[in-house]
Amino acid sequence: MSISSSSAAAAPTPAPSARLLPGAPVADQILADVESRAAALRARGITPSLATILVGDDDASAGYIRIKQRQAASLGFASPHRHLPATATQDDLHAVIDEFNEDRDVHALLIQYPIPQHLDYDAALMRVDPDKDVDGMHPLNLGRLAAGIPGPLPCTPAGIEALLAHHGIPVSGREVVILGRGATLGRPLAMLLAQKRPTANAAVTVVHTGVPDWSRYTRRADILIAAVGVPGIIQPEHVKPGAVVVGGGVRYEGRRLLPDVDESCAAVAGAITPRVGGVGPTTVAMLFRNAIEAAERRFT
Ligand SMILES: NC(=O)c1ccc[n+]([C@@H]2O[C@H](COP(=O)([O-])OP(=O)(O)OC[C@H]3O[C@@H](n4cnc5c(N)ncnc54)[C@H](OP(=O)(O)O)[C@@H]3O)[C@@H](O)[C@H]2O)c1
Repeated sequence: MSISSSSAAAAPTPAPSARLLPGAPVADQILADVESRAAALRARGITPSLATILVGDDDASAGYIRIKQRQAASLGFASPHRHLPATATQDDLHAVIDEFNEDRDVHALLIQYPIPQHLDYDAALMRVDPDKDVDGMHPLNLGRLAAGIPGPLPCTPAGIEALLAHHGIPVSGREVVILGRGATLGRPLAMLLAQKRPTANAAVTVVHTGVPDWSRYTRRADILIAAVGVPGIIQPEHVKPGAVVVGGGVRYEGRRLLPDVDESCAAVAGAITPRVGGVGPTTVAMLFRNAIEAAERRFT
């Protein structure tokens, strides 16, 4: 008796699916730690404080600020806020930054990005007291990172390191390839993961538009991290079978999030961050970790 080819075709083999690496449990653990450290400070009569500045009337930015304020309140932080009109000048913005810099009750400061186009974000960032820089993006703090001196770390790179550690992904001694060398993500992440620490200590390669055959590098990565902002740039053929794939880069079209990593990569990867809820929650958690550390530094 022969087996009919149609019945054989009727039982497709399911595509192998990678283990998911969600950010929420990582963020929950970090925030629980922040909350207990905030309580310890309050027991000493010190209320940790994360100040926020919003310039203009962008709905999405106002929404992000409200989320951070709610989170700040739930963790036991004060969150003084200043909202400047879209017509504010650079001097207006600097005056508010100076005010928060000088306020001894404010320990950390966030300028919601983006700001209106006529304003210079980098100049505003340079004005922030580096010890209150909650994003870890002040040039002095990037210099501390490069030199291995403790200080506020850039939130998304620190979140990715925490995500890998939390999910038990070994990094030390492994080949990490980062696609993208942007100042927010790829470049500081490369510095972080190359540091001599158990959760880092990797052989890190960074590729970008200057390396047109970048897939030659990504295909040999044990851990591939997308830090680009070009939707779907990472396809299955760019991934080594069984590799860990982390999607850091995203682009927003309206409220729609378009990630760098195509979902089909899950069929090739051994582990992968989910399309939504991967790196993002860890970034927010790291912001509060930087804030609590800024408050603790003031009183040690
Ligand atoms: N998930 C989060 O919470 C979070 C937080 C921060 C940032 N992000 C996202 O992370 C991404 C990177 O941010 P960033 O500020 O570092 O960006 P960026 O400064 O724009 O850098 C993008 C990098 O990608 C490279 N690139 C662009 N197109 C490429 C291509 N076709 N082939 C190869 N390389 C290409 C660029 O190469 P060149 O240098 O050669 O131009 C550059 O190095 C963005 O999508 C951002 O939205 C996410």
